[in-house]
Amino acid sequence: MSTTSTLLQVERVSVRYTLRGAGLLAPARALEALSDVSIAIPEGGRLGVVGESGSGKSTLARVLLGLVRAQAGRVAWEGRTVDYDDATAMRSLRRELQVVFQDPFGSLDPRMTAGQVVGEALQALAGPVATVAAQDRIRAALSEVGLAPAFANRYPHEMSGGQCQRVAIARAIVARPRLLVCDEVVSALDVSVQAQIVNLLHELSERYQMSLLFISHNLAVVRHLCDDVAVLCQGRVVEQGSRDAIFGDPQVQYTRELLAAVPEPDPTLQRARIALAVNVSRVKR
Ligand SMILES: Nc1ncnc2c1ncn2[C@@H]1O[C@H](COP(=O)(O)OP(=O)(O)OP(=O)(O)O)[C@@H](O)[C@H]1O
Ligand SMILES: [Mg+2]
Repeated sequence: MSTTSTLLQVERVSVRYTLRGAGLLAPARALEALSDVSIAIPEGGRLGVVGESGSGKSTLARVLLGLVRAQAGRVAWEGRTVDYDDATAMRSLRRELQVVFQDPFGSLDPRMTAGQVVGEALQALAGPVATVAAQDRIRAALSEVGLAPAFANRYPHEMSGGQCQRVAIARAIVARPRLLVCDEVVSALDVSVQAQIVNLLHELSERYQMSLLFISHNLAVVRHLCDDVAVLCQGRVVEQGSRDAIFGDPQVQYTRELLAAVPEPDPTLQRARIALAVNVSRVKR
């Protein structure tokens, strides 16, 4: 049995958004985006969060980052409740918890080269780093995501979507976070590029024992990447368990419907999985 400890815990979190009424005098309405949500990620574990559009996946990511406040429940990091009002605690949490979003172009500043993007994150997260050491770390981070050193001088408009997403991942991992939150990071990419990015995330997670919270409506991808899966439906976790349990024996009709919408097996991801097994065994040698 594994004895890994819990890195991140979300306990009975609820989030309500206030929506303005349709007319001038119409009363404001509340929308419960998350209701009583509990999930846990062990050190080095990979949790997939799936659910249809509007089910609350991104809201969950925003709560973890402190971008949205929960009205109820708590988030705990290594067993300690996260105080989102404590600036010092938040700075240290940011070093350990990083995020990558869906839009590979939109998430990068068009006026900054890839090297500057990664360098800025390094300075912000790791504090002042001597120039030479910083250059080394920027090059290392780019190489880790499969980009040659020359990419350091490229601007977003000089790169493909997949390459931009690699830069966004390099920025997120340069200060060695312990948890990477990925919100639909492959949705905007071609299927073959999706497989490469999934491959890369798996490899980084294995190599550095980096935990992943992988948010996606693409169940085929989640199946290939994650150990555990939580299924969100209208803000509630309706089912969660090991990958094999969720995919092999779903208990809830909503999960079955989500699964039925997936073309399975996905040959591209199947191939990626095989390549992945080879790569991981190479890394371990
Ligand atoms: N800032 C906001 N104000 C009001 N309602 C919001 C806000 N952000 C999200 N919502 C609503 O909350 C619900 C959950 O949204 P969320 O973005 O978390 O869903 P999601 O699962 O990430 O969807 P998608 O797969 O489309 O990205 C939706 O009904 C959405 O319309
Ligand atoms: Mg979303």
